[in-house]
Amino acid sequence: SRVQDVFSEKVAAAKNMAFVFDIDGVLVHGDRLIPEGQRVLDMLNGNNQLGIKIPHIFLTNGSGKPEAARTQQLARILKNPVSTEQFIQSHTPMRALAEYYKTVLVVGGEGYRCREVAEEYGFQDIVVPNDIVAWDPSIAPYRVFTEEEKASSRPRDFTQVEIEAIMVFSDSRDYATDMQIIMDLLRSRRGRLGTVADDPVSERIPIYFSQGDMLCPTEHPIPRMSQGAFRIGLEAMYKALTGVDLERVVYGKPELATYKYADEVLASWMDALHGEERIPQNVYMVGDNPASDIVGGNMYGWNTCLVRTGVFQGGENDEENPANFGVFANVWEAVTTACKKQL
Ligand code: G3P
Ligand code: MG
Repeated sequence: SRVQDVFSEKVAAAKNMAFVFDIDGVLVHGDRLIPEGQRVLDMLNGNNQLGIKIPHIFLTNGSGKPEAARTQQLARILKNPVSTEQFIQSHTPMRALAEYYKTVLVVGGEGYRCREVAEEYGFQDIVVPNDIVAWDPSIAPYRVFTEEEKASSRPRDFTQVEIEAIMVFSDSRDYATDMQIIMDLLRSRRGRLGTVADDPVSERIPIYFSQGDMLCPTEHPIPRMSQGAFRIGLEAMYKALTGVDLERVVYGKPELATYKYADEVLASWMDALHGEERIPQNVYMVGDNPASDIVGGNMYGWNTCLVRTGVFQGGENDEENPANFGVFANVWEAVTTACKKQL
């Protein structure tokens, strides 16, 4: 009958659309729920007129915890299932680097949690700055090293170790120590501490950053510096000390590599949900940060929705990186407008 035809057309249209959600400033603020976030997920997970699941993945520049820990935390706040198979944080694509480097320095994050992340990604030999400070405290002259930190560190003679690459996974908790150690390694002979290379370029080990955000909104009234600012600092120091530019690789939004990775995750999530591994035609990215979410989504040819619950506080649309689908009060307005258009 006609009613049935309309119904199956709508189901087909629903299977041809998907949402990509930024997390901070769209669904939650840190540990605090944005209520429209829960409402949207309830709807997309089947509480809708069609009674079907509309695919969605999460793409965040957040970092510092294993994927499983972060998705469990999110599921609890949003009161909806969140699978690691539909979840990408800034360092998730860096998993692929485990194939290329055996011994790596992993920088940033709380305590030793980024060591855990790197272990899970399959890196075989993981060094964190605290391991180096525990071996030789004079490497970071102003560092106060607690007994607790010392107890969990893994010192060894780093003059005998070749660190093959530097991975900044998350925000540095101690710029002075981390910058000193990174600079020592970048200027060393093939990642061996205690050496200084004659030629700064030919023996230099590569450095990777998990994302490039300059600023991060926090409970402080003025946004705090983030990994991008840390990187700019390192680049300037490196140039001043060696006279050459520092080559580096940056992951995270708005880098193309991250959007490509998200596309693959989306395709396999479509398969998990609808039994068909293909990219839906109508992908909607919902974000709060024009300089990462929106610019990246626009470049990648997605429909972009900018919400007013996070970083963006401007007028009608962002002037530099306008959202192509529109600006919305919150994620519920964005998602229901997109659904109205498609279904
Ligand atoms: O800047 C790091 C993080 O807080 C951003 O998270 O979810 O807005 O990409 P998200
Ligand atoms: Mg955000």
